[in-house]
Amino acid sequence: MEYTTLGSTGMEVSRICLGCMSFGTSEWRDWVLDEDESREIIERAIDLGINFFDTANMYSLGESERVLGNVLSEYDRDSQVVATKGYFEMDEDNPNSGGLSRKALEQELSNSLSRLGMDTVDLYQIHRWDYETPIEQTLKTLDDIVRRGQSRYVGASSMWAHQFAESLRVSDRDGLERFQTMQNHYNLLYREEEREMLPLCEREGVGVVPWSPLARGYLTRPHEEFEATTRGQTDDYAREHPYFDGGGREVNERVEELAGEYDATMAQIALAWLLDKEWVDAPIVGTTSVQHLEDAVEALDIDLAGSDVAYLEAPYEPVPVSGHE
Ligand SMILES: NC(=O)c1ccc[n+]([C@@H]2O[C@H](COP(=O)([O-])OP(=O)(O)OC[C@H]3O[C@@H](n4cnc5c(N)ncnc54)[C@H](OP(=O)(O)O)[C@@H]3O)[C@@H](O)[C@H]2O)c1
Repeated sequence: MEYTTLGSTGMEVSRICLGCMSFGTSEWRDWVLDEDESREIIERAIDLGINFFDTANMYSLGESERVLGNVLSEYDRDSQVVATKGYFEMDEDNPNSGGLSRKALEQELSNSLSRLGMDTVDLYQIHRWDYETPIEQTLKTLDDIVRRGQSRYVGASSMWAHQFAESLRVSDRDGLERFQTMQNHYNLLYREEEREMLPLCEREGVGVVPWSPLARGYLTRPHEEFEATTRGQTDDYAREHPYFDGGGREVNERVEELAGEYDATMAQIALAWLLDKEWVDAPIVGTTSVQHLEDAVEALDIDLAGSDVAYLEAPYEPVPVSGHE
């Protein structure tokens, strides 16, 4: 396994982060694994040297955190980097179970820690921007969370670059913990983040951990076969992202072509492209298959020629912003 320093934290993480949205309970989404099958993937990830795990309170409404915590409790906690998130409403009867107010964040992190069976997570992330709560309040709350030892670092996820820049400015002005990471939507079929967010992260020394690096499966098989899997048939969010617009089909075909030339899978070519980007620390890969997890780790050995990187990128055209509002 290759490790890298996550942004400016000094903390070392595996270059593949295991996304835990696919673990928890199939009652939440058809394509999510129940505990025993999830365990098999998490254990194999640890065998392969993966030390970085990303979950959220909302994944399987808490079951993802519970399952991850159960498995990790059998291993040395000091060698793991555990990231979770809060923002989305957890209980439709309780409006304070979502958002980034002090009340919501303190309660939700406390619930996350008890499901994980941990006193501390390594990274606590805000899942989206909260237009109802001043960012000063959110940052002060996150700073207190770090002071109390409930999280070592804080991070953010998809938002506009101007919002992220403002957050960093406020935390620097007020002497508060600053966001150390950006978990954003970035892959060969969605590159709008290259305009503003990624250069901002680079300038500010913020670690970048892209979500849906395989475009929720679109980059793992020929586009006409996208609906060949349960997730391909039922994941509505996949259809909402503009993966087939702006040259997406042609990018998909070029990924397939290069997979043949490199004797690799399409997923490996798509991941090798992301891993080649200087501003990416660790893509967050989602999988329900040991074989696919192994593919992801093997992608670290693929060194794409510069001309092939350019060939993969050439058909891309701007698409509407997708992943946040
Ligand atoms: N912050 C946010 O707002 C946000 C949003 C979305 C996701 N996330 C995070 O990002 C993680 C990954 O997201 P994701 O699952 O949407 O995206 P993804 O990694 O882009 O795609 C996962 C899909 O790709 C397939 N796949 C993976 N490796 C493959 C391979 N080698 N060959 C063929 N198919 C392969 C998986 O199928 P199999 O299951 O069959 O392997 C699954 O259907 C999540 O677990 C979560 O932690 C965060």
